Amino acid sequence: MTYEQAKTLLAKNGQEHVLQFWNKLSKADRAALLAQIDTIDFKELKRCASLLGDTAAPAAKKGKPTAPKVAELKGAALKKAAAAGGKELAAGRVGVLLVAGGQGSRLGYDGPKGAYSIGPITGSSLFYFHARKVLALSIKYACRLPFYIMTSQGNYDATVAHFEENDYFGLDPRDVIFFKQGMWPGMTPDGKIILDAPGHIFMSPDGHGGLIGALKAGGCFADMKKRGIKTLFFFQVDNPMVEIADPAFIGLHTLEKSEYSLKLTAKREPTEGLGMVVKRDGHFDMIEYTEMTDEMNNRRTKTGDLYFKFGSPAIHVFDRAFLERLANKAMPLHLAHKKIATVDAKGRIVKPAAPNGYKFEKFIFDALPEAKGVTCFAFDRAEEFSPVKNAEGKDSPATCKADLQAKWRRQLAAAGIQVAETMPVELDPVYALDAADIAERGLVLRMG
Ligand code: UTP
Repeated sequence: MTYEQAKTLLAKNGQEHVLQFWNKLSKADRAALLAQIDTIDFKELKRCASLLGDTAAPAAKKGKPTAPKVAELKGAALKKAAAAGGKELAAGRVGVLLVAGGQGSRLGYDGPKGAYSIGPITGSSLFYFHARKVLALSIKYACRLPFYIMTSQGNYDATVAHFEENDYFGLDPRDVIFFKQGMWPGMTPDGKIILDAPGHIFMSPDGHGGLIGALKAGGCFADMKKRGIKTLFFFQVDNPMVEIADPAFIGLHTLEKSEYSLKLTAKREPTEGLGMVVKRDGHFDMIEYTEMTDEMNNRRTKTGDLYFKFGSPAIHVFDRAFLERLANKAMPLHLAHKKIATVDAKGRIVKPAAPNGYKFEKFIFDALPEAKGVTCFAFDRAEEFSPVKNAEGKDSPATCKADLQAKWRRQLAAAGIQVAETMPVELDPVYALDAADIAERGLVLRMG
């Protein structure tokens, strides 16, 4: 893009101020600014600007929500689902989708969150546990299990480097596909793009819902089709307890002919920060925890259970064709009011004391109302969910390491091996995904 083209485009969209410091910029800064402008979808930017005056919570605008039916599979039904999922895996029709483009600001780690060390003994990273599970499954089901990893523009290189430095954790690099999500410019309340330096537009990742557009832009749908992938297991980078491509979950999704399936867990307390799947006006939808009223959080059934009992930790299964269909639709945008560094009229950087601008994000669960079939599947949090969100306290590395070790101790105990509470424990997923694997292979101890 040339300066003249950028100038015309910005003027047409009321954003001329973006070039106000042009004469003071170095050659390199000028090129970088033009490249940034070139990435902006001005039609989408208009859509962002049109939301700025609209402060009503999206949930308040729709119909009356009710709790959905949640499958709690046991015994023969669970076995049947697991067998159906196993068949899909063995046939090579399953792919794994990881969203790892977040900024991890609560954890405060300087690097991609996936590279964060979580192994209690080896210090292995979150990515290690995910990748080793993918490898374990591909061995167990004698299949290729492509692993699609979405990064942000900012953490792409460091993410790829982490995999390279670790020999892809044993995976075939041809089956690990990295792709980048999009970025949005931040905006002032009156719809102006924010400059955070004289030659630089403030941009932030477009949210985990950016996945759908990024899959298309990154050529991943085409790759999936070539491989014959029909079903995608989706998860977040911060939960090393996740049962990747759980055959029962994949199987239930397939048997129910769903387009979108969700694993849900009973909330720890009524106000726990998990999204709530609801039905309204004949559609499924997600209510963010920040939009749940006190009455909704505390509503009880006749038996005293929470009415809105099951929350979503973002463990999903999608039909590939469903996501591909959505890639041609504009997804809803969510606004976050934030403190964003900016520049004054002289180009000096100003750090605001109060929120001064908006970031825009898309959320993956906004796909819910579009799905032709939705299945909700209950799971036991102690076995599958302990995210690393905060540096300390709840959902921190300390709680996650304790939960991981408690799970491994239970698996070892079920295979007849008791491990003292005081002894650190860690299992490589390739060695064992569950107690049955341990029983089959016997125990290999690594001390220290
Ligand atoms: P979170 O909502 O926990 O956000 O992301 P975060 O950025 O990782 O952490 P905080 O809020 O700054 O502390 C949930 C999942 O969605 C991914 C994250 O990488 C994580 O796996 N994500 C989030 C993206 O891939 N892109 C985004 O733009 C946002």
